Amino acid sequence: MTSINEQPIPAARPVIGEEEIEAAVRVLRSGRVVQGPEVAAFEEGFSDLVDGRHCVAVNSGTSALHLLLLALGIGPGDEVIVPSFSFAASANAVRLVGADVVFADIEPGSYGLDPAAVEAAVTPRTAAIMPVHLYGHPAAMDKLMPIAEKHKLAVVEDACQAHAAALNGTPVGAFGAGGTFSFYPTKNMHSLEGGMVTTADAELARTLRLLRNQGMEQRYANEIVGANMRMTDVAAAVGRVQLTKVGGWTEQRRANAAYLDAHITAPSVTTPPVAEGARHVYHQYTIRVRGDRDAAMAKLTEAGVGNAVYYPTPIHRLKPYWEPDQKAGRTWDLPETERAAAEVVSLPVHPSLSEGELARIADAVNALGENL
Ligand SMILES: Cc1ncc(COP(=O)(O)O)c(C=O)c1O
Repeated sequence: MTSINEQPIPAARPVIGEEEIEAAVRVLRSGRVVQGPEVAAFEEGFSDLVDGRHCVAVNSGTSALHLLLLALGIGPGDEVIVPSFSFAASANAVRLVGADVVFADIEPGSYGLDPAAVEAAVTPRTAAIMPVHLYGHPAAMDKLMPIAEKHKLAVVEDACQAHAAALNGTPVGAFGAGGTFSFYPTKNMHSLEGGMVTTADAELARTLRLLRNQGMEQRYANEIVGANMRMTDVAAAVGRVQLTKVGGWTEQRRANAAYLDAHITAPSVTTPPVAEGARHVYHQYTIRVRGDRDAAMAKLTEAGVGNAVYYPTPIHRLKPYWEPDQKAGRTWDLPETERAAAEVVSLPVHPSLSEGELARIADAVNALGENL
């Protein structure tokens, strides 16, 4: 039970501080609110997080994925290999461009695509692999990139949860043909709503810029068919403020995770492993709970510790995927995905946690004991 002077600890605490508010008001007063100088400056600033790659800002992480797949020419007749253990947006983007989703299983430690499962899923129709850097842990890019090269497949990184994560010194979003980020309020940094596509290919960057703005570089001189996925300058101004803070916030997340790693000792709980060479940015601090997960979560809530399951239903079991698969008699063999969906629980790890709150989180988890 929480005592009267102990507030419940929320699972996430998005920051909209005075600086963000001032930046938004400044842009609103300027009258230049849509894809203007703030967006250009945000793109340039974000480039530092992805080894200087070209950055193209859009209105959400989902748009970033959608646009990147369109720009790569992926569409009907193509297959894209995607983990089922992710947010639905990863697979939705593939279906939105008319391509087929092929699910591959994950590694139990990193929660990213299992390279052996990816290799087994490649067919003559495979056009791309979409590694998701789930929870802020980089997927096994060192093993996935050679598979993509061998089969001549594009790599579309879903880095929506992993700003500034890295593997062997290379930041996520700087491995594949393109990377995508989300700036939704609960992400490690945000722009109210927003997204970014990153790529080393200048031609691809130009195509992305055209596609996000009705196919226009010059007004009314439309070159290709495009959408409106522009970011507002208000969003970009908020994003620029957050960009100055994300480095410090990430270090705080990592320190909070190190505290929880060191203090969580309940035998029914496994703390999140980190792969060799991986820089985990702890968008989520996700434990595995053996025994009765629902009961464990209820106890954590009762102790005032926010908790949530990302994701209780793997994508292949969601209606828009499950029903067509049932009709076609198609099944997926995804044991690690199913096991993760049944066992994971994410705990608060956000940078504004106090030491007292961290201690309360660890105590509440340890009180689960054997969880029998
Ligand atoms: C793994 C993953 N992919 C894609 C997205 C989509 O991002 P957005 O919500 O900005 O559209 C999210 C964010 O919610 C995500 O977590």
